[in-house]
Amino acid sequence: MLRLYDGQKIPVIGMGTLNIIGKAKIPHFKEAIDIGYRMFDTAHIYHNETNLGTAIRESIAEGKVSREDLYIVSKLGPQFHQPDLVEKGCRISLERLGLDYIDLYLLNSPVAFVHQSDQYTFPPTPQQNRPEFDDELTPTRTWRALEMCKRKGLARALGVSNFNEEQLCEILDDCEVKPAVNQVECSVGFRQDKLRKFCTDNGILVMAHSPLGNPRSCPPECTPFLRSPVLTSVASICRRTTAQVAIRYLMEKGTIPIPKSTNRFRMAENLNVFDFDIAEIDMNSLDENIEQRRTASLNWMRGSVNCPFELNC
Ligand code: A2P
Repeated sequence: MLRLYDGQKIPVIGMGTLNIIGKAKIPHFKEAIDIGYRMFDTAHIYHNETNLGTAIRESIAEGKVSREDLYIVSKLGPQFHQPDLVEKGCRISLERLGLDYIDLYLLNSPVAFVHQSDQYTFPPTPQQNRPEFDDELTPTRTWRALEMCKRKGLARALGVSNFNEEQLCEILDDCEVKPAVNQVECSVGFRQDKLRKFCTDNGILVMAHSPLGNPRSCPPECTPFLRSPVLTSVASICRRTTAQVAIRYLMEKGTIPIPKSTNRFRMAENLNVFDFDIAEIDMNSLDENIEQRRTASLNWMRGSVNCPFELNC
């Protein structure tokens, strides 16, 4: 367990759930609990909170875990950023999950949409009109409303996702509850040294999404870092798979990886990262020899004045 700045405990690894959609995935989430996952990362826009919630409730009813054993992360959809809608967005997630509190509730992005409806398909299909950005609304105003969700006990801790340093500074300058976590893409192939240092210096934990670099969506001209020679060589020194080393690497850096897999063997493999270390010399070699590249597409934020990063993928 790691600790948030206020002393609350948070697991050192979790399971990402983006794109794990449909009722057929309920047994998959239950299997993840059986394998030993205790933290799950979902979001309003992932459209899987209901199924994850069912899996959680069934596992609790079967006596496999208790609610307190689990750590559930969810995120406010960008269509609920208007301060008077924030609590509604949070309550919809709670209702879908069937829970009475979320352990860690994140602002999904600094980008806000004009509220047209509670539903929003993610990512937008080519036929769908792109939602209109509400660029007048600052992330800090949404944050101040999110603080109320914690005061009311709907969320035990609060954080952000996909925020850059400047946007974090704006919140830090004008908040009562400090963000405990910034969830961003972070991996051995996209280390985010500067942003990680800023977060660490400010007591904010980095949760690492896309820790395996989305290997299946790698463009043909690139080689996924899971197949890079240096990672392959360190993996053979550690007698582990490249995925296990990539996950352990993030833990050594003090971040919280949330790998996702739809395969039970890879799900188990990704959690089996506790009984080995990566030697300092090998950590250095990984730091120096892997090309850095963003892999998670954040295209839906493109064009907003609040888009946090230069998007090149
Ligand atoms: P699959 O669902 O078939 O296992 P990330 O978490 O970085 O976004 O990466 C998720 C992708 O990585 C998924 O496509 C997943 O495919 C794949 N993946 C997950 N675990 C492993 C693993 N241990 N080895 C190789 N690929 C993996």
